[in-house]
Amino acid sequence: MSNAAAELPALQVYRASILHFTGDPALHQDAAQWHQDGLLIVADGQVQIAGAYAQLHASLPPDAVVIDYRGKLIVPGFIDTHLHYPQTDIIASPAPGLLPWLQQYTFPAERRFAEPEHAAEVAEFFIGQLLRCGTTSAMVYCTVHPESVEAFFSASERRNLRMVAGKVLMDRNCPEFLRDTAEGGARDTEALIKKWHKRGRQLVAITPRFAPTSTDAQLQLAGELARAYPDTYIQSHVAENTDEVAWVRQLFPTARSYLDVYDRAGLLRPRAMYGHGIWLDDADFRRMNETQSAIAVCPTSNLFLGSGLFDFARAAAAQVPLSLASDIGAGTAFSMLQTMNETFKVARMGGTTLSALRMFYLATLGAARSMQLEDTIGSFAPGAEADFIVLDPQATPLLARRTARTDSLEELLFALALLGDDRSVAATYAAGRMVHARAAASDRPQP
Ligand code: GUN
Ligand code: ZN
Repeated sequence: MSNAAAELPALQVYRASILHFTGDPALHQDAAQWHQDGLLIVADGQVQIAGAYAQLHASLPPDAVVIDYRGKLIVPGFIDTHLHYPQTDIIASPAPGLLPWLQQYTFPAERRFAEPEHAAEVAEFFIGQLLRCGTTSAMVYCTVHPESVEAFFSASERRNLRMVAGKVLMDRNCPEFLRDTAEGGARDTEALIKKWHKRGRQLVAITPRFAPTSTDAQLQLAGELARAYPDTYIQSHVAENTDEVAWVRQLFPTARSYLDVYDRAGLLRPRAMYGHGIWLDDADFRRMNETQSAIAVCPTSNLFLGSGLFDFARAAAAQVPLSLASDIGAGTAFSMLQTMNETFKVARMGGTTLSALRMFYLATLGAARSMQLEDTIGSFAPGAEADFIVLDPQATPLLARRTARTDSLEELLFALALLGDDRSVAATYAAGRMVHARAAASDRPQP
């Protein structure tokens, strides 16, 4: 790995409008830290301080170079808490629902990740997509092949990104070419934990794909690993689709619910991230809260596959940790701005009106909290890793026209969420280093 941080100047200073959170804006009125004319000061890849220009500029050393992003908005890099890098090439593949989509597109696409060159090529492209959309951290599914995890972490480590990823565990109800065994899958996962967990910024997730593709023996071994390595992550899918829920009921007839299958295996705990959670019942929501397990809400995927509408009101009442996710490749956009756009509409369909502030919180500090990483990523608290993005309210003619007429921070963020995409991200920084700059833009408004 190149030691890119060593090449940076000791102090990096950015002037822009700055927004980050110290808490959930739905619960705390002063949770949003907003500086219309702000400075973000970074040293050694970490945030030194973020604050008002008027207060901070006098403290800068006389030779400090200020990078001027005035007119733009700096926020923490987005965090996408559920997506599949091997599904990059099957995004936008239509199917009548989850289970046919898995059979027809997903499993054949995942087969090729036994080939390290293919895995490496897709991992590079996938990470490029994340960065151009302003996503600096993610919880990523690889495939059943340990090689696919090697390829992903190698690509992430080269760019010094904070990523969570894991080898999919799948020992039944899938094609032979994607099948592991309970013991073999656990052994491979443990080897990956020993090699990659906390190596630089990389973190490993124990990743049973979902209950139907694991025997109870495999889930139990996954639970044992989760107990043996309590600071690793767990990720899986739960209660996404009614056919899937019915199938789980058949496969695990003694379980109280789909979530209970994971509970009995010891797979509910802090740092466990479950995708979807549309068809959970009240007892399940309570259990998620009790165990501080988290839900990754995946609106573009849920609409695309017709899976259902996530119930934001019930999740809020149960105080379950929430975050937003693209679920590529069932999701239809890498951009967390586009994900917020669909999140807003899904919540509205259930009678909840989400503020843009709340959605930006869920995609930054809220996600970091769900991952127990709130001291590390997702905000500009002093000492946090300096992952941040520069959003351009004038990225397109329409966005420029709309944001010229906004009267408040909420309206500005709402316009970015509803009209924004990768074009709205002027630059992306990871650990203080620029990892994406938007190409000189034909998409900018013409004078
Ligand atoms: N359930 C099990 N596997 C998958 C997957 O790859 N994508 C989605 N959306 N749901 C799943
Ligand atoms: Zn998924």
